[in-house]
Amino acid sequence: MALILGLESSCDDSAAALVTSDRRIVAQRVIGQNQAHAPFGGVVPEIAARAHVEVLPGLVREVLDEAGIGPGDVDAIAATAGPGLIGGVMVGLLTAKALALATARPLIAVNHLEGHALSPRLVDPDLGFPYLLLLASGGHCQLLEVRGVGDYRRLATTIDDAAGEAFDKAAKLLGLPYPGGPAIELLAREGDPRAVPLPRPLVGSGEPHFSFAGLKSAVQRAVVAGEHRPADIAASFQQAVVDCFVDRTRLALRRTDAPALVVAGGVAANASVRSALQQLAAAEGRAFSVPPGWLCTDNAAMIAWAGAERFAAGLVDGLDAPARARWPLDEGAEAVRGAGVKA
Ligand code: KG4
Ligand code: ZN
Repeated sequence: MALILGLESSCDDSAAALVTSDRRIVAQRVIGQNQAHAPFGGVVPEIAARAHVEVLPGLVREVLDEAGIGPGDVDAIAATAGPGLIGGVMVGLLTAKALALATARPLIAVNHLEGHALSPRLVDPDLGFPYLLLLASGGHCQLLEVRGVGDYRRLATTIDDAAGEAFDKAAKLLGLPYPGGPAIELLAREGDPRAVPLPRPLVGSGEPHFSFAGLKSAVQRAVVAGEHRPADIAASFQQAVVDCFVDRTRLALRRTDAPALVVAGGVAANASVRSALQQLAAAEGRAFSVPPGWLCTDNAAMIAWAGAERFAAGLVDGLDAPARARWPLDEGAEAVRGAGVKA
């Protein structure tokens, strides 16, 4: 049994966690920065990096104290090494390197997307490889065949905005606070998902890619027109995203014999998304797994768990491991026409 310390600091959550290789979350802490970024309607990289510097060492101390151990009692130290906002990634990775150096324990440089991708296995011991993963977060929207630790095949990606980004932009247009996903979900409960006709970009197209920019523009037009209740716009927007997810994921499922469908990333915290994809999996004769909401949004337990999986596979890194702003899970995947920097 190995005990792994994990650190996360790639966006606007500072987090530390201690997780064992037999799936026990010994201690974990997350401090979000929503209030610091709220006046700007999105994450400000410089503010985020400074906040990580201020709180991350204290979080490490707290999880070690809660477990009643010192830093030298862990078997390895894992930290997000990218992709993400580079200042924040550097703070977490350098903290992990300092701890690794001081304790002579191995460093594990974790890809944040691999943290999301493997997170369902932390809570679902029956979930084996391979599985089809819909990874929907603030920075990504991809369909990946997860074949094993470090072994990913990308089937699709977004050609413009990420799914969580679409939620955040739609929320901003509706005057809702950041992050937009939870705010839209709450407002949508009082709305009619069929009230506002909105597009379902790329639905029915031959490759399972995603596109959300046109949906955002349509929300903008609906807001400006002023003919619909905000709750109806929120519900209709959420339904449009769900419909895109279901159609695109169905196509990808038919291109893989993976026996299970998994959803992860911040947008997977959304109850409508979860239930629609669960129904899709059932209809397509696949098992379904989605982590609890707290494990979908950014946290360090998933980074420690990915560290545990990599440690078990003998995948450790040197102290020269780089911080990377961009770091695709499937390095061989070709760029998609229309894809911007977010692929
Ligand atoms: O995975 P995550 O915490 O951070 C990234 O790695 O990006 O995802 C954050 C994104 C944000 O865009 C947020 O609005 C979205 O996930 N999100 C949601 C919900 N909770 C968070 N989107 C829809 N419904 C939710 N309940
Ligand atoms: Zn994330």
